[in-house]
Amino acid sequence: MSDFGYDISNFTEVDPIFGTLADFDAMMVQAKALNLKIILDFVPNHSSDECEWFQKSINRQDGYDDFYVWHDGKLNAETGEREPPSNWVSVFGGSQWTWNEVRQQYFLHQFQVKQPDLNFSSPMVREHMLDVLGFWLDRGVDGFRIDAVPHIYEHRNADGSYRDEPINDWNNDPNSYDYLDHIYTKDQPETVQLMYEWRDYLVQYQAQHGGPTRVLLAEAYSPVETLSAYFGNGTRLGTQLPMNFQLMYLSGYSTAKDVVGSIDYWMQTMWTQHQTANWVVGNHDTQRVANRMGAHKVDLLNVIVNALPGASVTYYGEEIGMSNVETECTEISCDDRDGERTPMQWAPVKNADFSTAENTWLPVSPDYARYNVQTERGVARSSLQIFKSLQQLKSSSAFLAFKEEGGFSYEAVTEQVLQIVRTNKRSEEYRIFVNMGNSIEILEGLSNKVYEYVLVTAYSLHTPGETIDLRERLVLMPYEAIVLRWLA
Ligand code: GLC
Repeated sequence: MSDFGYDISNFTEVDPIFGTLADFDAMMVQAKALNLKIILDFVPNHSSDECEWFQKSINRQDGYDDFYVWHDGKLNAETGEREPPSNWVSVFGGSQWTWNEVRQQYFLHQFQVKQPDLNFSSPMVREHMLDVLGFWLDRGVDGFRIDAVPHIYEHRNADGSYRDEPINDWNNDPNSYDYLDHIYTKDQPETVQLMYEWRDYLVQYQAQHGGPTRVLLAEAYSPVETLSAYFGNGTRLGTQLPMNFQLMYLSGYSTAKDVVGSIDYWMQTMWTQHQTANWVVGNHDTQRVANRMGAHKVDLLNVIVNALPGASVTYYGEEIGMSNVETECTEISCDDRDGERTPMQWAPVKNADFSTAENTWLPVSPDYARYNVQTERGVARSSLQIFKSLQQLKSSSAFLAFKEEGGFSYEAVTEQVLQIVRTNKRSEEYRIFVNMGNSIEILEGLSNKVYEYVLVTAYSLHTPGETIDLRERLVLMPYEAIVLRWLA
């Protein structure tokens, strides 16, 4: 459990602290019964140093010799000392190269020392990874979130050496990841091909075994042009959802114009490809929305992410307004991301009903008695209720229509007010207004039609069912979000 489990010692087992494969199978049965789909977090870039494959590679066993990225290093002519093959810095800081005494070579790790990088230029590694996908597909999973995609390949010169990465002029800590411009360790062209291979594998699997389309989500903090290649090209299919993290870069100061900028960045490139959009507002590597933007903006973000077309990706707890928890380093965990990884808050009882154990691994939030599913369920204007109403709207025909049919548009009608329109152009039209600012906004002549309030947030003075004539004025309270439906 170094790096919260992203150090995998066996790709086809369940860690005993979580249970057994039989427990996993039982969970799959239960999920199918509830009509839920299960997607696994697939971590191809690296294993744990405790993985059998790494142990075999250290000892140059049975074809495992080049299973990882090994190098002798360079001899410094002046000092006579051995040095790492390149200046590459790991994502968590410090060199990407660590000396191994047994093998007498350096190995590469883009993340922690305990997470040696697999060598994807080895066909055997690629084959093993396909087997891993097959193993879990056989157990009924519906797809995979692929971890750390941009890091899978590194550039190697024809003679086997590695080039230094250029130094950024805006960071002068040589141990920091941001010290270097990662032109040789991120977003290499082979990665795109690999995504196509994996998608092919999933397509073939479906052809042989039936069942629904299996999905691939790619975790990639990469430029939108790279993400767009992950979708596929004219002849190859790629990942259906290269994750779009643009909305995660918003802060408490972001205006409606900033939100439009984030949406534009993605839409302008993706539109033309006619692909499914996706929107991520939080994850286990980023502070919760309540902390990034303020607790009063959680519902606004939940409204925005569900009002946009395509897939909305919600990190557990955001739908009830959970906040980061102050955690202390313990023997089991000491990570600056622990605060957003605390137990889900189900009910106002011991451990928020997450666990029957005496203590949970990470602490339960001190505000669990207020923010939990049971307390919020059925309460009008609670975060959970707003979220659920939006999820319902999202499956209505107006919300499923696309821009090419004129079914979707967005704009900042003022600096602070975002408007999103969803319509099937026949009978249904919804207008979503979000006031990101702390002032009352008065808008005139937005439309020549009469609407009805269908959804209101806690800051709204209105109630669902009230009508409003948009030829006249619309008044929005600070941080108010509303959904209006055109009364045809
Ligand atoms: C991804 C995960 C992160 C993990 C890293 C290394 O970015 O989201 O939590 O630390 O990969 O596996």
